[in-house]
Amino acid sequence: MRVFRVGKINDFKDREKKIVIVDNNEVGVFRINNNFYAWKNVCPHQGGPVCQGRLFPLVKENLDPEMQSHGRIYDEKKLNIVCPWHGLEFDVETGLHPGNPNLKLDPITIEIDSETVYVQL
Ligand code: FES
Repeated sequence: MRVFRVGKINDFKDREKKIVIVDNNEVGVFRINNNFYAWKNVCPHQGGPVCQGRLFPLVKENLDPEMQSHGRIYDEKKLNIVCPWHGLEFDVETGLHPGNPNLKLDPITIEIDSETVYVQL
């Protein structure tokens, strides 16, 4: 296992990502609410560049007690990556697909010191 520098903390804006190439691997590094997450840029569905997808708030159905829908609501505290190939979504913090626990992003270990972000591969 080797450690690679991917940038200074301040190079990453909150709620944004960078795609970096490390040792011939594409890695998506995300800064979300000042926490960092890194995933291999390979979708578990069919290998698409999942980390290049847009970040969207989790969409929920607004149901009343009789289970009648009143439209959608957006949970701004939970962000999903939307794969650009077929639109599957993955929680940017856990890497999990919300409806299929067998679909999960491949995690990359991330390290941070006082000013620099590193990944381990
Ligand atoms: S390859 Fe990502 S949704 Fe199909």
